Amino acid sequence: MENSGGIALVVYSSKTGNTRKVAEGIASGLGERGFSARIVPVEDKPQPAGGEVVLLGFWVDKGSADKKALAYLKSLQGRQIGLFGTLGAYPDSDHAKKSAQKVEELAAKKNTCLGSFMCQGKIDPKLIEMFKKIPAGFPHSMDEERRKRHEEAAKHPNDADIAAAVAACAVMLEKRSPKENS
Ligand SMILES: Cc1cc2nc3c(=O)[nH]c(=O)nc-3n(C[C@H](O)[C@H](O)[C@H](O)COP(=O)(O)O)c2cc1C
Repeated sequence: MENSGGIALVVYSSKTGNTRKVAEGIASGLGERGFSARIVPVEDKPQPAGGEVVLLGFWVDKGSADKKALAYLKSLQGRQIGLFGTLGAYPDSDHAKKSAQKVEELAAKKNTCLGSFMCQGKIDPKLIEMFKKIPAGFPHSMDEERRKRHEEAAKHPNDADIAAAVAACAVMLEKRSPKENS
């Protein structure tokens, strides 16, 4: 198979399980496409092997990657990195695009960034309760638009998101250079 021999280290940071679900889908989907992939939670701080592309999964926290993903990203140097993230906002929103761009720029400081993929992920019910307590008119207060967005986020990540994540990561892996990461 054309893709065989591609190797990915899927590292994920996940607080409530959305990013973990996408990471697990990516690892098994890439395997089905002939890429060998191992999957490790960010807490284990995995050291990439020579030749492994790091596919780093994060959840969006205040318009950037969450702290654990950022700390792991900072530890990488001279690697080829692909990114995937989950967030409450719509994936085609400016917020999602800016968040992805920010993390791509951070990744590219000391590494080669092969691209990024973003999808929605259901929002922690505790956070929703907090939003409900914010008085109307203040930033993040609950309004109809926000309620609808949360309702949509609650359906994600779904099978279509995972299929899209696998396809995006396969494209990233196809961009890898065999000369790097050795
Ligand atoms: C403390 C906190 C901050 C968040 N900040 C953002 C944010 O800035 N933008 C956004 O779109 N979603 C934000 N979210 C929503 C999460 O990114 C989203 O629910 C994500 O899928 C959670 O992933 P996980 O289940 O892997 O932890 C935030 C969630 C929490 C709990």
